[in-house]
Amino acid sequence: MSSFRSQVIGCGGYLPETIVTNHDLAKKVDTTDEWIRERSGIEKRHIVADKQMCSDLCYLAALKAIKNAGIEPSDIGCIVVGTTTPDHPCPATATRVQTKLGAHKAFSFDVQAVCSGFVYALAVADNFVRCGQAKYALVIGADVMSELLDWNDRSTCVLFGDGAGALILKSVPESEERGILSTHLFSDGEHYDALYVDNSVDTDKRRGYIRMQGREIFKNAIQKIGEAVEKALDHNNLTPADIDWFVPHQANKRIILGVSEKFNLPPSKVVITIDQHANTSAASIPLALATAVEDGRIQPGHLVLIEAMGGGLTWGSALIRW
Ligand code: ACO
Repeated sequence: MSSFRSQVIGCGGYLPETIVTNHDLAKKVDTTDEWIRERSGIEKRHIVADKQMCSDLCYLAALKAIKNAGIEPSDIGCIVVGTTTPDHPCPATATRVQTKLGAHKAFSFDVQAVCSGFVYALAVADNFVRCGQAKYALVIGADVMSELLDWNDRSTCVLFGDGAGALILKSVPESEERGILSTHLFSDGEHYDALYVDNSVDTDKRRGYIRMQGREIFKNAIQKIGEAVEKALDHNNLTPADIDWFVPHQANKRIILGVSEKFNLPPSKVVITIDQHANTSAASIPLALATAVEDGRIQPGHLVLIEAMGGGLTWGSALIRW
């Protein structure tokens, strides 16, 4: 039995400066602001500058989280980056972030679970903290989804954006009430083809294009996310009414509202940021957490439920006493 718990002591987010609105996109592909808003809830997205890479976004989000936590980079014992768009296939982007930060005492690696990447990274880091292998952990969700977009494919290019978000975990005695109460992870490779990156690499592009069966993803999302939410609540003997804040992965406003309705979670308890930055994949949950902490909605002691589903399929949830 472990004697430690991971307490969240800081968070921060970073969005690239360049903003692309739905109207901007409608000038390039056959779409409209109205279609994108109605089907997804998205109004705009942030896109990286030329040569800005995943580690750059991670670094800027991490700096904010470290400052917010009031620790030094040298305190960090473990860095886990959830990303689908690492700087390079190897080595891990997390090692680059470690060096940029000067977090020389940390061990660092990436995890890949697409849009569930942050929930997976959080679960992994939480386990290191709980078993006493790290006193402070930096958990980052970051993606440069624009690198994977086929700007001629209107069914995908309107949905994604770039960004990063980070959390600092601290090891505290398990008797402390505040901290991560549970994490639950799931996957099912039967749906491998529902969202994947193809092999088409143009001369000016280093990665393939994302391909997605949108309806298939949508259909699975409400059911599988529901499963992960139920697991989190049952495991902790809680009911939806106990939740102070529901902070879902920001893939589609209709999915978010569908899950909220399923659990009778009123819109006033749901943090929605997809309108501002589209689906930033692994970054979306920590960005939403950082937003709701910064504007004062999430307060110490609040019960926060996070969930995500992404390519794989992968999905999962976590309950945090903030
Ligand atoms: N602009 C205008 N029309 C479009 C666009 C666009 N950008 N994209 C597709 N259409 C058209 C289609 O061609 C189709 O036209 P048709 O009826 O003449 O054939 C019509 O709109 C309807 O297309 P559908 O795909 O059926 O639209 P739907 O209502 O299912 O919405 C969407 C599409 C938004 C992709 C939805 O299926 C969805 O959100 N799925 C989940 C996808 C997701 O969340 N992906 C993120 C990664 S995984 C994750 O994070 C959970």
